[in-house]
Amino acid sequence: MADGAELFRDDAFAGRNVLVAGGSSGINLAIGQRFAGMGATVSLVSRSRDRIEAAARSIVDAGGEAIGLVADVRDFAAVERAFQQAADRFGAIDVVISGAAGNFLAPAVALSANAFRTVIEIDLIGTFNVLRASFEHLRKPGASLISITAGQARRPLMFQAHASAAKAGINNLTETLAMEWGPAGVRVNAISPGPIGDTEGMARLAPSAAVTAALKSRIPLRDYGTKRDIADAALFLASDHARYITGAILEVDGGSILGDASADALTVPERPR
Ligand code: COA
Ligand code: NAP
Repeated sequence: MADGAELFRDDAFAGRNVLVAGGSSGINLAIGQRFAGMGATVSLVSRSRDRIEAAARSIVDAGGEAIGLVADVRDFAAVERAFQQAADRFGAIDVVISGAAGNFLAPAVALSANAFRTVIEIDLIGTFNVLRASFEHLRKPGASLISITAGQARRPLMFQAHASAAKAGINNLTETLAMEWGPAGVRVNAISPGPIGDTEGMARLAPSAAVTAALKSRIPLRDYGTKRDIADAALFLASDHARYITGAILEVDGGSILGDASADALTVPERPR
C-alpha cells in the first residue's frame, strides 16, 4: 500500500452508529474520532460532563456527528440510560467499544481492598455493564462489540495485580459472550493494546524517560504504538472484512506479549570451534 493510502473509503461506516464507553480521552476517543471520520455517528460516554462534552465537540468541530453522554460504567442503571439516549438520538447501535478503565502502579501490599475493588469495578464490571446494556439496542445480526483489554491479562505484571486480574476477566468475558451472542449474529472481540504513546495509561505506567527507553528496548518492534494503530484495529474488527472473527483477543502491541526481546539476535555470533 502506498504511504498514507487508506484501506477503507472515507464513508465506509456511513449509516452505522458507534458507542464508545470511556471515550473522553486517549485511545478510546481516538477510536471514536476515527469512526466519525469514516462517516459513523458516535456516542461518547464517561463520568465527567465537561470532558465528554469537549470530546464530542472535537468530533463535531472536525465535521463529524457525535454526542457526549454522562455515565459511570460502575452504575448499570446509568449505563442503560446512556444507551437509551444514544438509541433515541441515532437509532440502533452497531458498534460498541468498551474501554473505560482506571489504573495506577502499586504493589499488592499497598492496595487496600477498596483500591483493588475500584479497578475491578471500573474495568471488569464496567465492561459487563456496557456490553450487557448494549444487547437490547444492537442491530442484530451485524453488530460488533469490542472490549479494550491489555497484555497484563495474559502476562501478569508486578504492581498491576488489580489491572491484571480485571483485564484477564475481560478476556474471558469477551470469549464467553462471543459464544452466547454469536447465534444472534453479534460478534464480540477484544483489542489488547501494547504500550501506546501520548496516553494517560503510559504516563502512569512509565512515568520517566529512563523507564520508557527500557520498555522500548524490550519490544520486538522497538517502539510504542500510536492511538491510530488501535483505532485502525477497531475499524477492521467492526468491518465486514472481519465478519467471521469472533472471540478473538487481538494483540496490537509490536509483539510485546511474546516476552523480552532485548537480546541482539541479528548479529551472527562466532561459532564455537
Ligand atoms: N496507589 C494505591 N491506591 C490507590 C492509588 C494508588 N496510586 N490511587 C487510588 N488508590 C486507592 C484509593 O486510595 C482508594 O482506596 P481507599 O478508599 O482504601 O483509600 C481507591 O483506590 C479508590 O480511589 P478513588 O480515588 O476513590 O477512586 P475513583 O473511583 O475516584 O478513581 C482511579 C478511580 C483511582 C482508578 C483513578 O485513578 C481514575 O479515575 N482513573 C481514570 C484514568 C486512568 O486511570 N487512566 C488510565 C487508564 S489505563
Ligand atoms: P484514558 O485516556 O485515561 O482513558 C480512560 C477513559 O475511561 C477516560 O475517558 C475516562 O473518562 C474513562 N473512565 C474512567 N473511569 C470511568 C468510569 N468509572 N465510568 C466511565 N468512564 C470512565 O486512558 P488510555 O491510556 O487512553 O486507556 C484507554 C484504554 O486502553 C483503557 O481500557 C486501558 O486499559 C487500555 N490500554 C491502554 C494502554 C496504553 O498504553 N495507554 C495499554 C493497554 C491497554 P472520565 O475520566 O471522563 O470518566
